[in-house]
Amino acid sequence: MRRDQLKKYSNTFGLVKMTTGAKLHPMKLEKLEDYEKLPEDELVSRIKNLKSLMGSDLVILGHHYQRPKITSLSDFVGDSFGLSDKASKSSGKNIVFCGVRFMAESAAILCQPNQKVYHPDPDAGCPMADMANMKQVTEAWEKITLAQNSSDKKVIPVTYMNSTADLKAFCGEREGIVCTSSNAQKTFEWAFQKSSKIFFFPDEHLGRNTGKKLGIDLDQMILWDPAKPHGGTTPDQVRQSKVILWAGHCPVHMEFKARDIKHVRKYFPNCKVIVHPECDKETVDLADASGSTDFIVKYVAAQPPKSTTFVGTEVNLVTRLQAKYPDRRVFKLQRSLCLTMYQINLSNLCYTIDHLDQLETVELSEAVKSNARVALDRMLNLS
Ligand code: 13P
Ligand code: SF4
Repeated sequence: MRRDQLKKYSNTFGLVKMTTGAKLHPMKLEKLEDYEKLPEDELVSRIKNLKSLMGSDLVILGHHYQRPKITSLSDFVGDSFGLSDKASKSSGKNIVFCGVRFMAESAAILCQPNQKVYHPDPDAGCPMADMANMKQVTEAWEKITLAQNSSDKKVIPVTYMNSTADLKAFCGEREGIVCTSSNAQKTFEWAFQKSSKIFFFPDEHLGRNTGKKLGIDLDQMILWDPAKPHGGTTPDQVRQSKVILWAGHCPVHMEFKARDIKHVRKYFPNCKVIVHPECDKETVDLADASGSTDFIVKYVAAQPPKSTTFVGTEVNLVTRLQAKYPDRRVFKLQRSLCLTMYQINLSNLCYTIDHLDQLETVELSEAVKSNARVALDRMLNLS
């Protein structure tokens, strides 16, 4: 049944009989505010109805940090790498991305030309991604490349997935690459095969933690602070460094500190602590393990019954893990919520799916898309 027919039926009965069987789909409402007034149960049943009506034409992707109500309605739940891979391989015509903006943009870069990507709240960005913009990075790049010796000029730009699409395109155009927290080490190794220097943005902590894993000395990793002249460095320091780290961070993961780990170990000496590599180096060094959200999920799954694990990542994921494994103790290292991930809710998800024919898709210029795709493909080809 087409949407115009749906509307006709809606006006008559307030309910729409679907062609797929005896299911009824309630009338589509006009505005987002109308959906915000609906009780959760009704939103869930509307979304389920729409999913069964649209079948494989609709794919809902949900990041691990989404609320449990959203992940339970998602066709795929994963980390930013897994979801970008799913977006590149999915055949659904409409992809609704429940995550932050850079994730929806990455899906729009990777999807097929006949697919459309929707973001239930286009204002839900990642504060860390917003800590680096094209103008600042271009200025830094010019200074960094100028500081190089003529014999050793090459610098490889590596951007974290948590970055704007134009910065991914920037890397694509300059022999660079994108990485996620699950493949940062592999991408650094790839970059070091091409050059002796990496310029990494926007998360200084993931960059430092990855460099350390590869045995790079801390004094060979310098910080580029865009607010300071020449990034707060000297041309000599730039020349001598192996990794230039952008001064950006995730406010959510900055909440977890080494002192929290010391504290919980006092009371639970046999516990395990796992954290996300966006935490600072001192925290990652003290933890038993660190890794992407998907790695964290697998780590907790592998713990034996009755074990105790403290998890240093966004609270929605930890809450889900607690519910999934009642036979073991899974604790939050701290309660830290990603407010922009939380902006996606049942109301804007339901409104989006109900208005696919009217809403704007995630749009990027062709130039940004194709250059960003080059950098993302380099990453996807590494796995
Ligand atoms: P993952 O790459 O582990 O999904 O993390 C994304 C993110 O935003 C972490 O803060
Ligand atoms: Fe961005 Fe941090 Fe939120 Fe991840 S948790 S989306 S890095 S602010």
